[in-house]
Amino acid sequence: MHMNTRSEWFPFCWPLGLVPKLTFFGSHNPVRLLALVAALTVCATAVAEEIVPLSSLDISKMSAGWGKPLANRSIQSEPLSIAGRHFEQGVGSHAPSTLWVDLKGTTKRFTAWVGVDDEVGLGRGSIEFRIVADNSTLFRSKTMKGGDPPQRVDVDLTGKKMLLLIVRNGRDNNNFDHADWADALFHVAGKHPEAVDGPSVPKEPKVILTPHPSPKPQIHGPRLFGGRPRRPMIYRIPCTGKRPLTFACDNLPSSLKIDPASGIISGSLPKQPGRHVVTLRATNDLGTCRKQFTMVVGDTLALTPPMGWNSWYIHYGRVTEQHMRQAADQMVRTGMADYGYMYVNIDDCWMKQKGDIPYRDKAGATLPNGKFPDITGMVSYIHGKGLRAGLYTSPGPWTCAGYLGAFEHEEIDAKKFAEWGFDFLKYDWCSYGRVAQNKSLAELKKPYLKMGGILRTLDRDLVFNLCQYGMGDVWKWGPDVEGNCWRTTGDLGLARGSELPGFYSIGFSNARHWKYARPGYWNDPDYILIGWVGAAHGQTVGHPTTLTGNEQYSYMSMWCLMAAPLIFSGDMAKLDAFTLNVLCNAEVIDVDQDALGKQARIVRQDDDTLILAKPMEDGSLAVGLFNLNEAQRSISVTWQQLGISDRRKTRDLWRQIDLGSESDHFTAQVPRHGVSMVRLFPIGSEQK
Ligand code: GLA
Repeated sequence: MHMNTRSEWFPFCWPLGLVPKLTFFGSHNPVRLLALVAALTVCATAVAEEIVPLSSLDISKMSAGWGKPLANRSIQSEPLSIAGRHFEQGVGSHAPSTLWVDLKGTTKRFTAWVGVDDEVGLGRGSIEFRIVADNSTLFRSKTMKGGDPPQRVDVDLTGKKMLLLIVRNGRDNNNFDHADWADALFHVAGKHPEAVDGPSVPKEPKVILTPHPSPKPQIHGPRLFGGRPRRPMIYRIPCTGKRPLTFACDNLPSSLKIDPASGIISGSLPKQPGRHVVTLRATNDLGTCRKQFTMVVGDTLALTPPMGWNSWYIHYGRVTEQHMRQAADQMVRTGMADYGYMYVNIDDCWMKQKGDIPYRDKAGATLPNGKFPDITGMVSYIHGKGLRAGLYTSPGPWTCAGYLGAFEHEEIDAKKFAEWGFDFLKYDWCSYGRVAQNKSLAELKKPYLKMGGILRTLDRDLVFNLCQYGMGDVWKWGPDVEGNCWRTTGDLGLARGSELPGFYSIGFSNARHWKYARPGYWNDPDYILIGWVGAAHGQTVGHPTTLTGNEQYSYMSMWCLMAAPLIFSGDMAKLDAFTLNVLCNAEVIDVDQDALGKQARIVRQDDDTLILAKPMEDGSLAVGLFNLNEAQRSISVTWQQLGISDRRKTRDLWRQIDLGSESDHFTAQVPRHGVSMVRLFPIGSEQK
C-alpha cells in the first residue's frame, strides 16, 4: 500500500519535545537526566504517526451515483481541481456516494479539502459532504456548487471505529454532482484504516422485534369486507393461536357457509345491498376470541388495502403454475395467511410470448403458455386454501415483458379471467403507449375506463389494480375508472438515484398523495421487496435483500402508515424468521388495515427525517418517526405538530409494548435508517 510517513509522534509524546531544552538549560540536575531517559524510552516504544491517503484505500468499495470513483483523478479522470486549485491526490466521486472505512481504532484525524470538481463548470452540480463516525456526524459541508472554493475538513477520530464518507445530492437531482475528496488524508498510529462494505444485512444485526403471538386464539385481519351482491366470496379467517382451532360465525348470511376446522367462509354475498355485521369466533383449549366483521354489500371492493404476494420480483419470466400453487401452500404454512395475506397473484409472463402461436383460443380469448397447463385447477387449488388468485395483463397488444396483452380483446379476456375464477387484475400500461392517440388525460384514462366498465359487469368481483406508473396524476382519477388501487410511481425494483435504498424515494413520492386514499381506493407504491429476491436483469441467481434490518422495518412501517397494498414479492419458499417478523406483526398490519382508511399525513420531511401520522378509526394516531441519517439520532414530534392536545398512552408497535404516557410530545432514539412506530391512544380508550 502506498503510504507517506511523517516524523510526528503520538500526542502523549509531544510534551517530551521540551525535554532536550530542559537539559540544555537545566544543567546537570540528575532528576532531569532521569526524566530524559524515561521519556526517550516511552517514545521509542510509541508508534509513529503515519499519513495514509484516502486514495490508497480500496476505493472500489466507494459507491457513486454515476461512473466509478478514481484515485487521484476526478470522476471523469481529469486532474483534481476545485475552484482553480489543483490537488495531486484525493478521490474523485459522484453523488450520491458513500464509503465505509474501518478505522481500526488507530486513526487520529482525517483531513481533506472538499468541493465540486471544476470539470462541471461554474454554478453546476449541487452536493453536500458529510462525515459520520460511529453514531455522530462530525462534519457537514454547506451545499456546494461548481466554482465554490474548497471547504476544509479536519475531524478528530480518536477512539472512533467506523467512518462514513458521504456525498449527498443537493436539493436537486444529481446532474453534474462531481465530488472531490481532495488531499484526503488519514492520520494514523498503528494499523491502517480499511475500506469495507457497508452495513448490509450480514453486518448490522437483524433484531427480531415482534413478539411471538399468544397461544390463545387471536383473530386478525380487517374489520371490513366489500363486495357486490351475489358475487362469490372466499375468506379464510386470519387467526393465530395454538391449533387445532375451531371457527364459527354468528349471523352469517344464508348464502355463505363456514368450515369450522379451517375457518374458511365461502359461498356468495347476499342479494341485499347493505351492511351485514357478523361475529367471527375462534376457539382452542385456551379460550375463545371474537371479532366483529362487517360485509358491506354494495359497489366498492377492497375496503381495506389488498394483502398478498406477487410473483414478479422473485420469478420474473420464469414463473410457473407450480410456483403459484407452492406460494399458496407457503402462505398458509408460514402463517402469513393468519395475519391477513390472501391474494396469490401471477404477474406478467403467464400468457403466450411473441411467436408462440396460437395466442388465443377459437373464441378469441387469451391462452396461457405451456408453463400454465391447468390454470383453472391452479385457481381452485388457491381457493381451496381459502385464498384468492390474481393475474396480470396489459391494455396494449403486448405486456412489458413481451407477452400477449388484451388489446382489442378486453371483454373476452376479462370474462375468461372471471371464468377461471380470478379475484384480482393488475392492468399494466406497457405497449399501450403505441396505441394511444396522444398524451391527453382522456387517452390515459381510456383503456382503464374500458376495463373498469367491463369488470363491474362480470359475475365475479375482481379487484382492479391500475399500473401506469402515476401518469396524469392517476390518484386523482383512479376511482372514476373503477380502480381500487393504482401504482403511483415506476418500478420499485428499479428505483435508483439516491444514497438511500430505492423504497425510500418510492415511498416519499407515494406519501405526497395522502389525501387521495380512502376505503376502496388506494395509492400503490409497489411491492414489498424483502427476504430472498429474484435474479433479474442479467443476474443468474437470486440473493437475500441487501436492506438492513432497520431499513426493512422502515419499509414495512412506511407502507402500513400509507395504507398501501401489502403485497410481498420475495421468495415464498425462503421465508426466514426475520422476514416473517417484518411481514407479520399484527399491530403494525392493523395500522394498514384500519377501517377509517386514511393514509398518513406528512408531518415533517427533510434530509434527515420523515414523520408520518395516520388517524385511526378508534381515535388513536399511528405515528412513524423515520431516521434517514447515517447515524443514530433522537427524533421528536410535538402534539402541536400532530394536531392533538390530550394526554396519550404511547405504544411501540414493533415491540408491542406500552411505553407510558405523554402530554405534549414524543421522542425516540432512532437507529440509522430505522423507524420508531408508535400508536398514541387517548387515555381511557380501548387499547389493543
Ligand atoms: C412493469 C410493471 C412491473 C411488472 C412488469 C412486468 O414494469 O411496473 O410491476 O409488472 O411490468 O413485465
